Amino acid sequence: MRSHRQRGAIGGASALAGLLCASLLATPASTAAPIQTNTAVTATQSAAGVAAKRPSRPMPYQNPHLPTKKRVKDLLGRMTLAEKVGQMAQAERADVAGDPSQIAELGLGSVLSGGGSTPAENTPEAWADTVDAFQEQALSTRLGIPLLYGVDSVHGHGNLMGATVFPHNIGLGATRDPKLAERIGHITAEETRASGPQWNFSPCVCVARDDRWGRTYESFGEHPKLAAEMSRMIRGLQGHHGQFDRPDRVLATAKHFAGDGFTVFGTGEGDYTVDQGITQASRSEFAELALSPYGSAIKKHDVGSVMPSFSSVDWTEDGLGNPVKMHAHEELVTGWLKQKQGFDGLVISDWRAIHQIPGTYAEQVAASVNAGVDMFMEPFSGDTVGYPQFIETLTAAVEDGTVPMARINDAVARILTAKFELGLFEKPFTDRRNIDDIGSPAHRRVAREAVAKSQVLLKNSRHTLPLSGRDDVYVAGSKADSIGDQAGGWTITWQGNSTHQIPGETILDGIKSAARGEVTHSPDASAPVPAGAHGVVVVGEHPYAEGFGDVGGPRWGYDPGENGVLRPPLTMHLSDADTEAIETVCAAAATCTVLVVSGRPLIIPPQLLRQIDALVASWLPGSEGKGVADVLFGKRGFTGKLPVTWPRSIEQEPINIGDSDYDPLFAYGYGLRTRR
Ligand code: GLC
Repeated sequence: MRSHRQRGAIGGASALAGLLCASLLATPASTAAPIQTNTAVTATQSAAGVAAKRPSRPMPYQNPHLPTKKRVKDLLGRMTLAEKVGQMAQAERADVAGDPSQIAELGLGSVLSGGGSTPAENTPEAWADTVDAFQEQALSTRLGIPLLYGVDSVHGHGNLMGATVFPHNIGLGATRDPKLAERIGHITAEETRASGPQWNFSPCVCVARDDRWGRTYESFGEHPKLAAEMSRMIRGLQGHHGQFDRPDRVLATAKHFAGDGFTVFGTGEGDYTVDQGITQASRSEFAELALSPYGSAIKKHDVGSVMPSFSSVDWTEDGLGNPVKMHAHEELVTGWLKQKQGFDGLVISDWRAIHQIPGTYAEQVAASVNAGVDMFMEPFSGDTVGYPQFIETLTAAVEDGTVPMARINDAVARILTAKFELGLFEKPFTDRRNIDDIGSPAHRRVAREAVAKSQVLLKNSRHTLPLSGRDDVYVAGSKADSIGDQAGGWTITWQGNSTHQIPGETILDGIKSAARGEVTHSPDASAPVPAGAHGVVVVGEHPYAEGFGDVGGPRWGYDPGENGVLRPPLTMHLSDADTEAIETVCAAAATCTVLVVSGRPLIIPPQLLRQIDALVASWLPGSEGKGVADVLFGKRGFTGKLPVTWPRSIEQEPINIGDSDYDPLFAYGYGLRTRR
């Protein structure tokens, strides 16, 4: 079972000052005088007394007027093996925060913030200061190669307090609006880069075929065409060619390559039932269901990086029983992605994923590098095998010929290309001009629009919806007033949490602002229902991420949320409390509407569905709960369509459009419309 993420946080400002001071004292990776480019010195650096170092003499790679290919060739030719291998290593923020000089000493190519790995003070300025302090370390090395900083801004910059938190991808898939996805990508890029990170491990272009998977909500839906269409988000994140270096664009990542969304139930890694499991398919079926969204991400949107999946592929035509981990899959990573598709970006491993490849660590490293992975998310140091051991092991593999130097040069060239095109050699530090736009009203308006367009109306008997603003409303259910639940995973912390408070509005807030009648709120429906009041019951799932969201795992009765706090098991069924709240309200209110806040379809038994007048799939709307009220009260019409099939029972899973015996409760693409 994967170890829990080590979450650390450096102390307060004093530690940050320590970071900056440490960078002053850092000894460059070699004794030669450090060659520095003109570095734009921001207020932070000048406050720390870091003087902009003049280049001792301009080198071709430092000339921004030269074509990137020439700059890469010149720089690569100057690098030692140690400097090349260091570029292929990515450490985690909390690990290097304790000793940032490791960045310079090892010549690390990148640092990431894993889910929830935030500076102690979770503000845009503290994020930018942290990234810039690490950047100082990288610039102090002999060749001054700048650092890439990566983060999972998978529904906006969800780790950052105050960021605009958009609906998770499953809700965006319900909008069927690729242009909206592009607009959201652009806002996400602006809010991410203004706070420091230049690399976003998003979007997931996974095709979720089994809703029992804990990452279903990270998918745009079950149809590869929908995933391909919505991958237009990449264009918003990166901009068009040549816009990478702007302060409102980031390097995007198409993930997880490939087939992460239709592994076989029961083959999950460790305790997981689905996540990181085995995809059993023919090459043609795999191409249609798993690979096609990558073709779009590469050919249409020029995605700059790709992240392989933890999962494995087992070809049916070769006779099952020989699953190969995607992180060691040369036929797909090098053969299909790089050679056949002409992907010229960089392939970044997933979190310690190579440790799942059979064999010793040396064999795992060699297998993955030789398969075509270019940079390695080996977050830790010390007792847990991580980036220091990775560097040693890969260096030895090159020296003994297990890994050819040509493969190292290819990987490093891809990494340097991304850094040149992001403009990091000329502007290595955070450009903070947009920092005040983070969470702005304009950004939140786009998120609110996305929320409204993501709502899918599944039942509307007696024309219950839209409600009239004059109506009295009775609101019940566990998810009505919980911004943590409506934001879901990858929010402030990796797993998310029902108790999280982020700026924004809950669904109840939205109802209160839209209704002019009396609004009564009673989560368990214990308060009397006023005569004539219309009922709205908001039910659903608690937040989760990755395999912790898998249904049916050995942890059926135990689901460690943040810090191991027990959470009720995820079952795709409504809780008893929510079911009772629905029955109580539907028996007493003039009409009753049920909203399902969840990362996937939940089972609505027939006898319960009969009691419900209107049923809405609300997915995980994020910070702007008012968008739900906009369609409830007719400010906008319902336009959403199911991005995944809605099953009658969990026994139907996996169930997808195109299945021969297709008999769902609501079909893929279904959604009732109302006029505004
Ligand atoms: C996780 C996820 C991946 C994410 C990475 C960094 O394990 O699989 O989607 O980008 O680690 O947080």
